[in-house]
Amino acid sequence: MRTSVAIIGAGPSGLLLGQLLYRHGIDAVIIEHRSAEHVLSRIRAGVLESGTVALLHEAGVGERLARKGLVHHGIKIGDQNALHRIDLTHYSQGRHVTVYGQTEVTRDLMEARTAWGGVSFYDASDVAIHEPDSTSPYVTFVHEGGEVRIDCDYVAGCDGAHGVSRRSIPAERLSVFEHTYPFGWLGVLSETPPIDDELIYARHEQGFALCSMRSMTLSRYYIQAPRDENPEDWSDDRFWSALSARLPESAVRALTTDPSLEKSLAPLRSSVTEPMQYGRLFLVGDAAHIVPPTGAKGLSLAAGDVSVLARVLAGLYHQGRQELLQAYTPTCLERVWKSVRFSWWMTHLLHSFPEEDGFTRRIKAAELKYTLESVAGRTALAENYVGSPLADVTG
Ligand code: APR
Ligand code: PHB
Repeated sequence: MRTSVAIIGAGPSGLLLGQLLYRHGIDAVIIEHRSAEHVLSRIRAGVLESGTVALLHEAGVGERLARKGLVHHGIKIGDQNALHRIDLTHYSQGRHVTVYGQTEVTRDLMEARTAWGGVSFYDASDVAIHEPDSTSPYVTFVHEGGEVRIDCDYVAGCDGAHGVSRRSIPAERLSVFEHTYPFGWLGVLSETPPIDDELIYARHEQGFALCSMRSMTLSRYYIQAPRDENPEDWSDDRFWSALSARLPESAVRALTTDPSLEKSLAPLRSSVTEPMQYGRLFLVGDAAHIVPPTGAKGLSLAAGDVSVLARVLAGLYHQGRQELLQAYTPTCLERVWKSVRFSWWMTHLLHSFPEEDGFTRRIKAAELKYTLESVAGRTALAENYVGSPLADVTG
């Protein structure tokens, strides 16, 4: 079998790339090692930057997003018992974010791909990338008991943090910059109306808490917890009382605590792999970088890479612009490091670190106060949270 671009992974990165390439008239095949049902069962974050929303519209999958996505013009920050609102739109020259679950984005992309008959192999095992540094790379895998080989011009590694793409690049050709945080987030999904009509990020001496939502009837809550905590040790009652203790009282009054639908722990880390390409293999989204969820940047960073790669490939195929190949890594990394910095900063500002001394705690409390009280501080938070427009690599 032959295609122009072999896409490894059917998460949001791989599916969105497949959709944009289709619109550019470039042939691609998706190879995913899990089932479609499994991919759709994963619960992930739910905040989209405007640039990501625009890209989903450009990809032709914006219809349900436009109907069901919740436009948010502000966020709230809890600081001990006080609740502050940051008017995102006011402090970012009119921009906003859209609350829409990543699982829904994935579903919309999958349905669109099925509708036009895009070729995808789910449940593929032993996926291997061969000769990515040559002009004729190929991918092999086992599907329904038979070995499949796909010859291609380029490989897009959209296979997340634990995929095969990054491992297919010689280690000495990559630098990995990593930072781990000494805690995770314990998350709960519950069929209850959200506590507030906006997200609440709360700093508290007992630890960070976040109140988010998927819709006006489905809430998503998180609390900071030790990295090795077992979610099964957390009864619903224990979770709700830990959450309530960390939120300002004025917010807790509106908390509805029904049984949880799901409970899971995610460790927090930051990681960036450089460069994001090797020969004709490109690393995209989580395959290249991980951010802690505090800044809500994971999906929009992935969308940024996809946007750049789709334009690079369109320029190559339609205009023969070979020089664009070299632009992928630097264009993506500039945006990536800004979001890595912002996510790291928000994580430090709002979490309690186990070894934190009294001096550091007071410095952070003062920094949060400055951020909330000054125009410069609010502007810096709002601009970073809503994100910047996607880069045009072809310009
Ligand atoms: N072969 C084929 N597919 C693979 C392999 C492999 N060896 N390893 C992993 N995959 C698949 C996974 O099953 C998954 O469906 O690649 C896909 C990667 O998807 P994601 O992990 O969702 O990564 P990405 O598409 O880049 O999405 C980034 O997801 O984790 C969040 O915060 C992140 O919001 C961001 C978004
Ligand atoms: C979520 O809704 O899951 C969510 C929202 C905002 C974040 C992280 C996660 O910063």
